[in-house]
Amino acid sequence: MTSVFLVGAGPGDPDLLTVKALRLLQTADVVLHDSLVGKKILTLVSNKARLVDVGKRCGKTSAAQGEICRLLVAEARAGYRVVRLKGGDPMVFGRATEEMDALRETGIAFEVVPGITAATAAAAALQISLTRREVARSVHFLTGHGAAGGLPEHDWVALARGGGTLAVYMGAQTLPGLAAHLIEAGMSPDTPALAVENAALPGQRVLSGTLGALPRLLATAAPEGPVLVLIGQALADEAVAQGTLAAAVAG
Ligand SMILES: C[S@@+](CC[C@H](N)C(=O)[O-])C[C@H]1O[C@@H](n2cnc3c(N)ncnc32)[C@H](O)[C@@H]1O
Repeated sequence: MTSVFLVGAGPGDPDLLTVKALRLLQTADVVLHDSLVGKKILTLVSNKARLVDVGKRCGKTSAAQGEICRLLVAEARAGYRVVRLKGGDPMVFGRATEEMDALRETGIAFEVVPGITAATAAAAALQISLTRREVARSVHFLTGHGAAGGLPEHDWVALARGGGTLAVYMGAQTLPGLAAHLIEAGMSPDTPALAVENAALPGQRVLSGTLGALPRLLATAAPEGPVLVLIGQALADEAVAQGTLAAAVAG
C-alpha cells in the first residue's frame, strides 16, 4: 500500500492545487512541507494531521536533505500516511530524486502527485504563452543556483542560439552573471526578459525589460519573495511592449 505521497503544492494559491493534492492533505497523518509552500495551503491540511516544517530552501546543505529523507522513511515505517508537500511541482528543482531513492532503498511504496510549476504559473498569471509559433519552439527550465552555490555551468551557446524561452529558477542572485554569459554567447541584450516575484500570489510583482537591463532592475527592486526569470522572444508580446503588464499584476 502506498504510504508516502510526494505532492506538488503549486505556486501557493490554494485554487491551483490539484483535487488529488487536496484530498491527500485532508487524509494525511503527517505533512512534511517546504518553506515555500503557501500558508493558505497549509490551512487545508486536516486538523488531525501533524504538520512538520522541514524548511528546506535552495542553498541548504545536503545534510538537511538527508535529514528530510530520514524523516520520510521513519514516519512511513511508523505506519503513518505521509504527505511530502513541495512548492510547485516535485519533479522540477524539487530534490525529488534523493527522496525517491531513499524510499526505494527502504522498500517504501510512494506516489508522486504533480503540481503547477512556477514557470507555467507565471505564464498564466501574466497571460503570456511560453511557446509561440515560429518564435519560440522550446522552453528550457534552468537553475541559476548550482549544487556548489553560485551560477552553474550551462551550455550558454546552446541556450543563446536555441531560440527557446528560458525559465530561470533560483536565479535572482545570479542574474547578472547569467545575463552576461548569454550575451557573450550571442544572445541579444535586447531580448525581452521578465522577473516575476511571487507569481500567482497576492504580492505578485513583475519587472519587465530586456536581458541587458533586467539585472539592474531586479537589484534595485530587491525582491524578498521567490523570483522566476523568463527570457526570450515569446515575451515580446504587445502587452510587454506597451508596458501594460502592471495591470495584469494580481492585487
Ligand atoms: C527550489 S525551487 C522549487 C521549484 C518548484 N518545485 C516549482 O516547480 O516551481 C524554488 C524556485 O522556484 C521559483 N518559484 C517558486 N514559486 C514561485 C513563485 N510563486 N513565484 C516566482 N517564482 C517561484 C523561484 O525561482 C524559486 O527560487
